[in-house]
Amino acid sequence: MKKIGILFGQENTFPQAFVDRVNAKKENGITAELAHINKIIQGEPIGYDVLIDRISQDVPFYRAMLKNAAISGTAVINNPFWWSADDKFFNNALATKIGVAVPKTVILPSNQHPEDTNERSFRNLAYPLDWEGIFAYVGFPAYFKPFAGGGWKNVYKLNNMDEFFKAYNETGQLVMMLQEEIVFTEYFRCYCLDRQDVHIMQYDPRQPHEFRYVRNPKPLEKKLLDDVHNGVLALNKALGYDFNTVEFAIRDGVPYAIDFCNPAPDADVNSVGEENFEWIVEAAANMAIRKAKSHKENQNNLTWGSFVTSFVNNKPLI
Ligand SMILES: Nc1ncnc2c1ncn2[C@@H]1O[C@H](COP(=O)(O)OP(=O)(O)O)[C@@H](O)[C@H]1O
Ligand SMILES: [Mg+2]
Repeated sequence: MKKIGILFGQENTFPQAFVDRVNAKKENGITAELAHINKIIQGEPIGYDVLIDRISQDVPFYRAMLKNAAISGTAVINNPFWWSADDKFFNNALATKIGVAVPKTVILPSNQHPEDTNERSFRNLAYPLDWEGIFAYVGFPAYFKPFAGGGWKNVYKLNNMDEFFKAYNETGQLVMMLQEEIVFTEYFRCYCLDRQDVHIMQYDPRQPHEFRYVRNPKPLEKKLLDDVHNGVLALNKALGYDFNTVEFAIRDGVPYAIDFCNPAPDADVNSVGEENFEWIVEAAANMAIRKAKSHKENQNNLTWGSFVTSFVNNKPLI
């Protein structure tokens, strides 16, 4: 019997719907449940062949538990090692190497020194930074946001240098990126599962939360949808996420990737709506079943992106 589990936090609609969908498919020898975690012993398996992780970004104990599960053969979705290593600035750097457009972006040292460091810890760093060069490259208006984070926390839109320095002074020890604003005609949020199934949702970030997933989307040009679809796949193949969303802003017909490190994306029926929810429940159930079928005992059953495998195999990235 292959066992699939789902690990989750405060969300209420997706986990049970996922479990019910897998079980409703009555695949021979495959069963799913809400995960039960108890004592965790080094090097010992936790009893799941496939485990969907929706919460370890907020619970460091779970992240450590998942790495231990992975080395004992659990196919953890998403790969907890890669997720721990990744960040939004690296995502952008990778996009530049695989031909996906991204807004001009720089990363900045945190405004305040990290705990237990002082100015002597930063003797390698120019002071002051070349602010003129940075602003000339990025331009205004600009977005200013944490290099790791989500949920629109600490995301600023800034119109000039004065606003920038005021915001910078509020960010404490956060490591922030300064990014060109993409003034867009369309905006999409796209689910990508198993680096093969893509669902493009028209999304209007300028609306209040409950209206952001556009309910009666306008028809769009096939070429634009194809470009978005291909961009979503290219990013997820390179990064190696099994479960992710990619946000694209369209400027002059070109999709710019804005936010594509969302390995536990919103899947609540109350925000994404019935139709998108149905898509994600079905696609996630099918993926978990595929993973359960291809799962091998005592083996690394994680997904690794081409960024990693190209190094391991000494091959070009694309
Ligand atoms: N470079 C940008 N150009 C235009 N809009 C942006 C840009 N960066 C962020 N935004 C807007 O801010 C929102 C939140 O930023 P995002 O990068 O998605 O952060 P989070 O990970 O917190 O969701 C986006 O959904 C988008 O509407
Ligand atoms: Mg976002």
